[in-house]
Amino acid sequence: MTDPRLAELTRLLPALKLSVDPGDMEHHGRDWTRRWTPAPLAIAWPASVEEVQAIVRWANGHGVAIVPSGGRTGLSGGAVAAQGELVVSLDRMNRVLGFDPIDRTLTVEPGMALEAVQNAARERGLLYPVNFAARGSCQIGGNIATNAGGIRVIRFGNTRQWVAGLKVVTGTSEVLDLNRGLVKNASGYDLRHLVIGSEGTLGIVVEATLSLTSLPPPSQVMLLAVPAMDALMKVFTEARHRLRLEAFEFFTDEALRHVLAHGAQKPFEEEHPFYVVTEFDAVDGQAEADALAFFEFCTGEGWVVDGVIASSDAQAASLWRLREGITESLAPHKPYKNDVSVRISAVPAFMEEMQALLAAEYPHFDVVWFGHIGDGNLHINVLKPTELDNAVFVEQCEHVTTLLVETLIRHGGSISAEHGIGLVKKPWLSSVRSEAEIALMRGIKAAWDPNNIMNPGKLL
Ligand code: MLT
Ligand code: ZN
Repeated sequence: MTDPRLAELTRLLPALKLSVDPGDMEHHGRDWTRRWTPAPLAIAWPASVEEVQAIVRWANGHGVAIVPSGGRTGLSGGAVAAQGELVVSLDRMNRVLGFDPIDRTLTVEPGMALEAVQNAARERGLLYPVNFAARGSCQIGGNIATNAGGIRVIRFGNTRQWVAGLKVVTGTSEVLDLNRGLVKNASGYDLRHLVIGSEGTLGIVVEATLSLTSLPPPSQVMLLAVPAMDALMKVFTEARHRLRLEAFEFFTDEALRHVLAHGAQKPFEEEHPFYVVTEFDAVDGQAEADALAFFEFCTGEGWVVDGVIASSDAQAASLWRLREGITESLAPHKPYKNDVSVRISAVPAFMEEMQALLAAEYPHFDVVWFGHIGDGNLHINVLKPTELDNAVFVEQCEHVTTLLVETLIRHGGSISAEHGIGLVKKPWLSSVRSEAEIALMRGIKAAWDPNNIMNPGKLL
């Protein structure tokens, strides 16, 4: 290591895995946004809490910024290292540390992939219910840092709901042991919840105790073809009323076209403007009859024009692929991603206004809608025309975002439902948070990280 700061780090921690290899720097210096050119100082892979603490102490001493790094599947630039930061990858801290069948908790290190956490819970006869398409590569530490949501929020809530305890190394290198798995703990500010969703700006999660729940009953997956936007929420209201929903997701014909081009199977002969994939409990014959009655009612009202219920696990998986495969199928088009939310009751009015706005502002761009409509969360992806320069494209999209924000404010919504603020949404933080709130957030950041070494420039 020719950099004297890195030489010092190696001297302090001779066993620490450290790399300045250009391939590692490129790979670990970016997330899925691909907008910034990675330029970290180095990548470090600590293997223990003590090593994380020592790195943070060293970073304070040398004024080196740290970017905590999980699976880097983020879509807001929260894990980008483009300013000479040390990337602290949690890849090597990926073990299950404990399981308590009475508390129904699983204690894990932060570098475990979400899917590995889900599997570990299942092997113990229980469920870790947070779920989304990036489960194989995202890490639980990153899920906590972004309060990840996904496709089952409608039933199970966000990551926040499942974190019973957290160990965190703060920006001053102290280890905090927060909440320790307690169900009830009325002892003042719950610092655990400050860390969840803080995007690595307060500290590094080094251990998490996760609550688990019972395995779900048998379920059914249904795909519906919906002729118009205003019917979507009517179908949702009816579904919520008649079925016990686990998921209710939508996408447009344009989204379907991309997943089909990516190898998914065509669900219906005809094309339709909107599709819904929904999963619900199907415990007995009554539940199945309810599902049929729901379908017949919606078709009778003209809100649904076609539908299919999966008759096998393989068919359920292929219906889910139509929704979960969208992100990957759009990636080659370098999409500009909007991840907005409004209250569920405001979705119809908001969607109508937004559709008019986007049609007027993006007449020449392909705009793909999909998302967690049952949570009031829409993903609107604008695809970059091949010939257009990326910087020019982003500039045009950012201009439209500024208009979109006005609509969002009018409907009381948020510029980031679940992807986080990171670098991408930073210019619009003040559309969701008041000046007083942002001042408090800055104060909290300064208290946890007085030298501003934890993921500086992100979020705030
Ligand atoms: C999703 O819902 O598929 C994820 O949030 C990823 C995305 O928006 O592309
Ligand atoms: Zn999403």
